[in-house]
Amino acid sequence: MSDNGVSKAKPAETPPLALDRVHQGDCLDLLARMPDGSVQLAFADPPFNIGYDYDTYDDRLAADVYVNWSKRWMAEVSRVLTANGTFWLAIGDEYAAELKVVATRELGFTCRSWVVWYYTFGVNCRQKFSRSHAHIFHFVKDPAHFTFNTDAIRVPSARELVYGDKRACPTGRLPDDTWILRPQDLPEGFGADADTWYFPRVCGTFKERSGWHGCQMPEQLLGRIIRSSSHEGETVLDPFGGSGTTLAVAKKLGRRFVGLELSAAYAERIDARLAAIEPGDPLDGAAEPLKSVPATKDGRRLEKSRPRIVKKRKPAAEPSQAMLFEKRRKQR
Ligand SMILES: C[S@@+](CC[C@H](N)C(=O)[O-])C[C@H]1O[C@@H](n2cnc3c(N)ncnc32)[C@H](O)[C@@H]1O
Repeated sequence: MSDNGVSKAKPAETPPLALDRVHQGDCLDLLARMPDGSVQLAFADPPFNIGYDYDTYDDRLAADVYVNWSKRWMAEVSRVLTANGTFWLAIGDEYAAELKVVATRELGFTCRSWVVWYYTFGVNCRQKFSRSHAHIFHFVKDPAHFTFNTDAIRVPSARELVYGDKRACPTGRLPDDTWILRPQDLPEGFGADADTWYFPRVCGTFKERSGWHGCQMPEQLLGRIIRSSSHEGETVLDPFGGSGTTLAVAKKLGRRFVGLELSAAYAERIDARLAAIEPGDPLDGAAEPLKSVPATKDGRRLEKSRPRIVKKRKPAAEPSQAMLFEKRRKQR
């Protein structure tokens, strides 16, 4: 047993996991095949234990079972990280507080930032506020030694975005975390001293969406994490591969990577996603979503609109995002 009461991994009986691919199986079994101190960055977006419908995993564990299981796989993540390694954990409201306590007080991680990811197009709710955020913890093993590449993740300042001030620093500023509405409704919500990460969720109608995994994260969000917390050539681990976003972004950004995924069907799809991209390929999605949002005034777009050709009896159009959203709302 280690100091924190978690069983240490058994000595590897099978060869260590190969890099630059996804491995299908249970993450605890697979992590046990990874050497100590072999990855610089781990990103985990585990099942949130909220009854989500995965193809093989049952996302309805008793709360204690879920927290104990989380402690076991996080302890393994800690073991395989280098001494100056970084662990990013994405988690929902239900277990954010408990897993943070496990990670910091029981496993010895230091929390550098509790980031709130605000997203649009969350599932619409009737008797409570619709959820539009997830928590992303930035943990490090050693608070005195860790990678944080600030120049790789700078964003435009409010001076530039909102006020068009020529004195705005051309290299922007570090991102931050606040309560906001949509940027087109409240541009001042992204003030110079805020740290909200605005990335739209990869919703059904987005070109980026692979369509076969409901929890696909945006590439740009993983881009910020991987750029800030690792260098080219270093190894990135994702114990819960899902649709393979972390691995795809790691490959595009010139990192080595190891992905683990319980579902054989998802792992097969991840393989195909990885085979279709090359290092150096651009990440999907808008690199700077705030700049890609059209400016509006009194509910109208300020950009010059193209002349509209009005045809009689227009054939049925593709449903818009708003229509799909409304349809989904009515179905609930
Ligand atoms: C929330 S999703 C990850 C989504 C991913 N971040 C993405 O962008 O596509 C969690 C994934 O963990 C997988 N999973 C569940 N239990 C697992 C386990 N014990 N070992 C490995 N993967 C597991 C599920 O099949 C699911 O695909």
